[in-house]
Amino acid sequence: MIIAIDGPAGSGKSSTARAVAERMGLRHLDSGAFYRAITYAAMQRGIPVAEWPNLDTDRLESFAVSAEPADSGFRMLLAGNDISGPIRRAEVNALVSAMARLPAVRTWLLGTLREAATRADLVADGRDIGTVVFPEADLKVYLVAEADVRARRRLEQMGLAADEVSLAEEVGRIEERDRADSSRDVAPLRQADDAVLLDTTHLTFDQQVARIVELARERDPRSAP
Ligand code: DC
Repeated sequence: MIIAIDGPAGSGKSSTARAVAERMGLRHLDSGAFYRAITYAAMQRGIPVAEWPNLDTDRLESFAVSAEPADSGFRMLLAGNDISGPIRRAEVNALVSAMARLPAVRTWLLGTLREAATRADLVADGRDIGTVVFPEADLKVYLVAEADVRARRRLEQMGLAADEVSLAEEVGRIEERDRADSSRDVAPLRQADDAVLLDTTHLTFDQQVARIVELARERDPRSAP
């Protein structure tokens, strides 16, 4: 079984996907973590952003980025070292869209992400999971929420105060990333035709998780407890 969860920055895809996976005994695949890991690797090597469009398969392979199954998800490694923490840093947030828009990077990752699905039933989240990576997913959910709600959740997640100024700045960053992710030429962020739209603006986290689990069980009664 594959459940695909897509949506814009800060819509809560990853935490929701992780909780759905735990509830249903599936593995969680956070595809954004793969884009983040490559971005971090390029930064560590000191490759200027202007040169990223020249990265080819051999160069990407040489970064030695990999993912190993861990707990109920995957752990991102760089040359064997756990980089789960560093890939969430603000510097990576700021540059990851520049990496994610490159066709060579997307093509290279497609194989890696699809391979993961050959080994386990998954809840995968990202921007193009239902449209490109797993178009045959059993259930596709497109998560949305108003930008200020997403900004507030993001700040809380990072343990920062959601005062008026930081909130306005975070809304700006989120809207900028939405624009970059939706307007790129390859695999832009969009709702798949057969995805269920779930607006979480007025839902609690538990409610949104429960709704997706319910949809999954309707699609595949074998997954009921
Ligand atoms: O979900 P996230 O914030 O970890 O995603 C990081 C970046 O990777 C974001 O700019 C969008 C991009 N991304 C993508 O283009 N396709 C995916 N399937 C997942 C993430």
